Amino acid sequence: MSDKAPEAEVREFAVAFRAFLDWISNSARDEERNEVDVLLAEFLGAEGMAHSVVTRELPPLEHVNLQTALDAWCARPGRTVDIHGITVPPHHAPPNLQQLVTAESMAPVRLAAPALADLPNGPGSTLGCLRSAILLVTDPLGSYVLFIQGPGDHHPSLEVEVAGLPVETAQGVLAELDALRAELNVYRGHMLDVSIGPMGNVVLGFGAPPGLARDDVVLPGLVLDRIERHALGVAAHRDALLAAGQHLKRGLLLYGPPGTGKTHTTRYLLGQMTGYTRLVLTGRSLVAVGPVTELARALQPAVVVLEDVDLVAEDRTMGPRSSPVLFDLLDSMDGAAADADLLFLLTTNRADLLEPALAARPGRVDVAVEIDLPDAAARERLLTLYGRGVPLALTEADVQAAVERTDGTTASFLKELIRRSVLEALHDDPALPAVTGAHLTRALDDLLDAAQGVTRTLLGVGVDPATLPAGGLSMDSDAMMMTAGRRSRMVYIRPH
Ligand SMILES: Nc1ncnc2c1ncn2[C@@H]1O[C@H](COP(=O)(O)OP(=O)(O)OP(=O)(O)O)[C@@H](O)[C@H]1O
Ligand SMILES: [Mg+2]
Repeated sequence: MSDKAPEAEVREFAVAFRAFLDWISNSARDEERNEVDVLLAEFLGAEGMAHSVVTRELPPLEHVNLQTALDAWCARPGRTVDIHGITVPPHHAPPNLQQLVTAESMAPVRLAAPALADLPNGPGSTLGCLRSAILLVTDPLGSYVLFIQGPGDHHPSLEVEVAGLPVETAQGVLAELDALRAELNVYRGHMLDVSIGPMGNVVLGFGAPPGLARDDVVLPGLVLDRIERHALGVAAHRDALLAAGQHLKRGLLLYGPPGTGKTHTTRYLLGQMTGYTRLVLTGRSLVAVGPVTELARALQPAVVVLEDVDLVAEDRTMGPRSSPVLFDLLDSMDGAAADADLLFLLTTNRADLLEPALAARPGRVDVAVEIDLPDAAARERLLTLYGRGVPLALTEADVQAAVERTDGTTASFLKELIRRSVLEALHDDPALPAVTGAHLTRALDDLLDAAQGVTRTLLGVGVDPATLPAGGLSMDSDAMMMTAGRRSRMVYIRPH
């Protein structure tokens, strides 16, 4: 036996023993580290782990666009993507990618099938959007990780994070996703109702464009022509206007008494503006005009409808500056680039409340059109319009009597008159053979009855201030509820 042999054996044993100790200590560490940390460490390797994590925060309403962009991005040739969901126990805030990469997540994280938020991506369709997911990406840039954190209970924002790439390369990946979000934006060209979510975030719902024809809008020809020219004419001459150095951004205000067709006309215009992104803000959602205008600019040509703007004329935003919401609204309109093909369509029945704000911030509204109570000819047209499909058996004299008696009422009153006449006729004969002059007279008697004062007011019949009790109208609680949220309606008819 040589002296060397045991030495070699000892060395061999020492190497093996050291490997054994490493193995023990590594597996102990692996047990401490959760499966997500291990997955990331193994995928990124030491070099990948050394890079900064780059985070991009996006508005929550971009969640569905981000998913649309990701779907297209993942499918690009030369790229493989392995998606894992992560989950944390209830009441734990979800970790960010930095915490996952450095194994410093406070919450015990586990791998799971990816959780999805099912979000509308078109009228009548939805898309499952990743809520908390790790994407292990391999492409010509290398092996890197994207982390998607969608808005949720403990986390109001939307974030995309990149780990495993040099900062500039990671920014390039985020820019590629931005470009795809813009290109494939699911909101472009649609009609969208804007509302405010529980966390104060902007929520967009796909609406069906109203199928109103020009004949469905009963307004003096010149008035409707003027509205159409301003709203639709600019769109028709877009290129010629731009070539002549003229701006496309425009503001149209429709004002007049309640029930005369401001909203109706707006809906008609929206139906005509196919190809436009149409964003409708009303009531509480008017405060979102800033972000919505930005969105409209990105998705132009676009229309932003601001319904009943007087509702925010006196409201003030929170904070030290405390400016009226209406001023913020007008400022947002001004912020949009002049060459953007943007139409702001405002409606109000309190032009008097709006005037000082508009005078203080000129240039926002270029055309203001008054929509007045219907004249005799218009009232007759309205009776015909809303009598379509009704078995009317009216003589010329019946119609003329109704037209005369409805002087001072609104279009919505005439619509209701037809409905009441049908009810009167049904009362006489449920088979509804015909609606006669007698039914029309009875319905009108009922609607114009002095005891129906509040109903008339709600339908927009002019009220003689002399007949009102001192201090304005008193309403029963039902009527109050019907007008809740539309406080300016009642102010309109109050005597000054
Ligand atoms: N000019 C009109 N032509 C045809 N229908 C009309 C017209 N005006 C009103 N109507 C009918 O009456 C309904 C109520 O009118 P609309 O909501 O447009 O009134 P408005 O002027 O917007 O009132 P408000 O100031 O209360 O918002 C409409 O949905 C429509 O059916
Ligand atoms: Mg309206």
